[in-house]
Amino acid sequence: MKVLLVLCGLVLVVSARPDPHPHLKGAQVLRVVPEETWQVGYLRALQQQDLYDFWTEPNSVGRPVDMMSDVFQLPVLRAALENVNLSPRVLVSDVASLVAGSTPHQHNNKDSFSTRIDWTDYYDYDQITGWLDSLATDYPSVCKTEDVGTTYEGRTMKLITIGTGAADNPGIFIDGGIHAREWISPATVTYMINELVTKGSGEFSELLSKVNFYVMPSINPDGYQYTWTNDRLWRKTRSDTDSSFGCKGVDPNRNWGFHWNEVGASSSPCSDIYAGPEPFSEVEMQVVRDQVNRFAPTLQAYLTFHSYSQLWMYPWGFTSDLPDDWQDMDNLAQNAVTALTSLYGTRYEIGSSTNTIYAAAGGSDDWVKGVAGVKYAYTVELRDTGSYGFLLPTNQIIPTAEETFEGVKVVADFIMNNN
Ligand code: ARG
Ligand code: ZN
Repeated sequence: MKVLLVLCGLVLVVSARPDPHPHLKGAQVLRVVPEETWQVGYLRALQQQDLYDFWTEPNSVGRPVDMMSDVFQLPVLRAALENVNLSPRVLVSDVASLVAGSTPHQHNNKDSFSTRIDWTDYYDYDQITGWLDSLATDYPSVCKTEDVGTTYEGRTMKLITIGTGAADNPGIFIDGGIHAREWISPATVTYMINELVTKGSGEFSELLSKVNFYVMPSINPDGYQYTWTNDRLWRKTRSDTDSSFGCKGVDPNRNWGFHWNEVGASSSPCSDIYAGPEPFSEVEMQVVRDQVNRFAPTLQAYLTFHSYSQLWMYPWGFTSDLPDDWQDMDNLAQNAVTALTSLYGTRYEIGSSTNTIYAAAGGSDDWVKGVAGVKYAYTVELRDTGSYGFLLPTNQIIPTAEETFEGVKVVADFIMNNN
């Protein structure tokens, strides 16, 4: 909103803070649970129209599908659902007010820049990387940070290596924030970094002497920052291609070069699941790929954190077939989830990603296992199951991070003891 003030011939333009989310006013999230296969097919066709934002994707009978619609399209969506005997439940009655209620606090303004973070709030990209570097300065015997690449918009991407033993100790690679709006992911990954580093010469000294962690807490920085400044519910990267009709961004978790774009992805640049013009078109995914390759000879586990749905998944995502060693992945996932659940009772489902949610090719997990050859490759969908979805309140950050770390420690201990 701009207000023109003309004072004694002096023209001042005073900008009040514009509403960054005008399209979310009155927008709702509706949930339907398909009971017949043809209804699932209908929902998939609806998704192809790119009129609604599917917070969860149609997969199978019995699995809820959450769709966000703007206020104008809402009656159309309701009518379409009712036509096929799907009665929607209102999951979020006003997305705008939920966004407003989960907007981070004052410390996120540049004047009061501090390298300290805690887990009572969310932090923007510069604050996360500033904190990461300060951690490396404070704990040089346990960790180090490196600049490993530059994003499409020019941001620096950082990797933190945590470990006190040999460089060829078994390694675990962890990333967060591949999807921009899934804020709980970088928050959880930074929490785990903090635990490992600050307790690196105490509780975790044995672990760090035997296992190396390679961690990138925010691997889609342009998208993440865009969720802070322009659109809280942005998912993709922010790149532009000649043929993109003004639509920006690629789904970074459809962009990896293994069975790329075969299933569960779109060739339309305006789609939220756009696979990109070619595999690894996104510079950020090239950077992560190169880091995985760099450590691949020692890597035994890979963990990539998303939200939401509470799922601990393993490959494949491009087919319903299972890898030969799926039982090893399943067993370790069971143990991890048992530990996770024991803390606060949070329930998770376990399985291959195709069989648990939907087939979607071009995910990082499939590439890391199928091409880089890392045995234990997991995609973890954090809290919740839809009450808040991507807009998880800040008071759930610490419990989410704590319980997740319980699961991750099980994986890490297994890697440590198995070698
Ligand atoms: N929600 C994630 C996504 O849609 C799940 C990815 C699971 N892995 C896979 N290769 N499909 O990107
Ligand atoms: Zn995701």
